[in-house]
Amino acid sequence: MLNSTRADVELQRFPWPCGTPASFTGGEFDVSSQTQRAPSTYFSSRVRELAPSPTLAVSESARQLKAQGIDVIDLGGGDPDFITPEHIRAAAANAMNAGDTHYVASAGILGLRQAIADKLLADNGIEVDPNGGVIVTPGGKQALFEAALAFVEPGVDVLIPEPAWVSYSPMVELAGGTSIPVALDPDDNWRLSLERLSDAWTPASRILLVNSPNNPTGRVLDRSELAAIAEFAQERDLLIFSDEMYEKILYDGQRHTSIATLPGMAERTLIFNGFSKAYAMTGWRLGYVAGPRPYLQQIEKVHSHSVTCATSFVQQAGIVALTGPQAFIGELVSAWDHRRRDLAAALNAIAGIHCPLVEGAFYAFVDIRGTGMSSTAAAELFLREAHVAVTPGIAFGAAGDGHVRLSFAASDALLEEAAARMGQVLGSKPA
Ligand SMILES: Cc1ncc(COP(=O)(O)O)c(C=O)c1O
Repeated sequence: MLNSTRADVELQRFPWPCGTPASFTGGEFDVSSQTQRAPSTYFSSRVRELAPSPTLAVSESARQLKAQGIDVIDLGGGDPDFITPEHIRAAAANAMNAGDTHYVASAGILGLRQAIADKLLADNGIEVDPNGGVIVTPGGKQALFEAALAFVEPGVDVLIPEPAWVSYSPMVELAGGTSIPVALDPDDNWRLSLERLSDAWTPASRILLVNSPNNPTGRVLDRSELAAIAEFAQERDLLIFSDEMYEKILYDGQRHTSIATLPGMAERTLIFNGFSKAYAMTGWRLGYVAGPRPYLQQIEKVHSHSVTCATSFVQQAGIVALTGPQAFIGELVSAWDHRRRDLAAALNAIAGIHCPLVEGAFYAFVDIRGTGMSSTAAAELFLREAHVAVTPGIAFGAAGDGHVRLSFAASDALLEEAAARMGQVLGSKPA
């Protein structure tokens, strides 16, 4: 071979994907017989240390047990137990049938960008330009990932109040940065304060991630916490990633305030949101990032070179979701509200368990410190003995240990049965 490089030689030896077909064994590629090198030698250092999503791992364990015929109740996931409303489904079907099956503008169709800008103004009091201030993505997760690639690199620290959603830290690490936990305390109702932020801060801190209502704790940041974040961000010149995915899922008269609405914050805040939770559209993959144009321009580069655009006919459904009737959300929230209360009452009768009533989202973040078990041991016990899949709190950062997360976006009957089984394993609190 002329001018062959070492990489070419390695490629010739490695027969997939461009050489002779690799053999299949039991439905999987058997690369070991075809390669000189172990597959792991091809892995980038970026992925080598990366663990798969722990919430998806819980669901996978539950699925495997179910496949063995075991009746597992899976409360590990974050998927509303309702189908997307009919008028939204119809909008997608109509658009698809009318031939809306092509690539669209990378940032999203203008109608949806406009509907998002209108929503941000009406619901949140935030003004964004639909031309340059909004990018529509396949899920809020993708928007966060693109922003991580756009603003995080080696040498950049990202402050993440913990417990935190499982994907923030891996995203930061995939982008080459370092996530710095801001440990919150369950005995202080997971409150975020200037002191906690200052204690965690490093000279390389450039971004602060805010998630309210929070997954997994359900905490909704109050005025004093928002003020502390605003003061801290301005003093330390931080960019804010504000994940507002659960903004519509609030209980007991809680209200959502975006950190972007505080004085001096709009220019340093990127808002991440989506359709998965409020509109029961997890499988559709539709979300967005909104904020100041200079930041969005950088994100759009990553977006256009990765996914090109979010699915065309799904975007048409997104317009209908935002501009159509909203009563459905109230119905979802009232169903979850009543499950939240019933589940907490049932779990609070179990020995060693304390289940506070959460302020938002649809997860119970259950304090199991009274059992003396770690969150991993408790989650394993519940899966093995009660056949109930829950997520260990440690998956949300060290601050989450001593807790397990249960989704109450499940039927009344399943939740009742899950609590009863957990009670059989741990016993009841003394009367
Ligand atoms: C806190 C939080 N942010 C973002 C997401 C991503 O949502 P999606 O990609 O479905 O829009 C989730 C999903 O569970 C979440 O819990």
